[in-house]
Amino acid sequence: MSRIILSILSILVIIGCKQSDKKVGFIIPGAIWKDTEGNPINAHGGGILYDKGTYYWYGEYKKGLTWRVDYIKSWECYRTNAGGVSCYSSKDLVNWKNEGIVLPSERQDTSNDLFYGKVIERPKVIYNDKTKKYVMWLHVDSEDYSFARAGVAMSDNPTGPFAYIGSVRPYGQMSRDMTLFKDEDGRAYHVFSSESNATMYISLLDDNYLSHSDRYIRTLINLSREAPAIIRHKNKYYLVSSACSGWSPNKAMYAEADSMLGEWKMIKNPCVGRGSDTTYGTQSTYLLPIDGETGKFLFIADRWNKTNLEDSRYVWLPGKFENDTMVIQWQDQWNPIASSF
Ligand code: GAL
Repeated sequence: MSRIILSILSILVIIGCKQSDKKVGFIIPGAIWKDTEGNPINAHGGGILYDKGTYYWYGEYKKGLTWRVDYIKSWECYRTNAGGVSCYSSKDLVNWKNEGIVLPSERQDTSNDLFYGKVIERPKVIYNDKTKKYVMWLHVDSEDYSFARAGVAMSDNPTGPFAYIGSVRPYGQMSRDMTLFKDEDGRAYHVFSSESNATMYISLLDDNYLSHSDRYIRTLINLSREAPAIIRHKNKYYLVSSACSGWSPNKAMYAEADSMLGEWKMIKNPCVGRGSDTTYGTQSTYLLPIDGETGKFLFIADRWNKTNLEDSRYVWLPGKFENDTMVIQWQDQWNPIASSF
């Protein structure tokens, strides 16, 4: 009798262990997200690199006071000191380990692009298979956003440290909100809002990803789009962007093209349901493929808190293609890998 009870108990213990070993977790869009040490994740305007079985999340480290730059009257220039670029790693897109600041801001030299009193935004990292380097591009700016340049940094490891190389105005043009896209053939593109944010540029980077080639296009001309994020599905390319309303949310739109430097056609708002006309109170920053076959992806966005930028939240939502039409929908809580969507 007691032996039977013992065996039942041990089976229950084994099942219990198995269940607790398996980390089941959820993403709760808009909640405070904690890292594996229990601290709020600080990685805004970010992007994800998937490298050898691990996801790396790079973002803006925004710490401390938010204030409004008083001499700028034409728009609400709320800002925090630039804390550099943070990095978190994860195997499952839910549990994130803090890997620290992989590109720090500069505390002394006011002329340095990365001086903490300036602006460091929207860092993105890709891996160069030829040079075996991790390459980061980011938006560097002055506090009034008139510098409008693209900075580049490089590392031997995904968790840094990244060595800052310098900044450029590609083709002599402004570069603000930006993303990187690495295609299946290894070619990489820098996509950035230019010409006072009126027009999007897509530039093929040189083979080492450290400079711009002479191949680029101006697209979405005079449509004033920012916060670009790109994904490829089958043989089409999709570009999600926001309108220009500073830290305040607006309606996302996506455009599509047959090739990165081809003709982009604006299609429609990919978001559906309640909240879709403000992108659920967010602004896009990255699109991460989850399943290449079905085209499922992760829509990664920021819910900015303009008067307390450090407390801006992350909204990650399921995205998919229905007959080649991009669809993003709200979820209260979900798991990007385990959920079917
Ligand atoms: C947004 C942009 C953000 C940040 C902000 C400053 O439009 O997407 O990355 O630059 O403006 O107000």
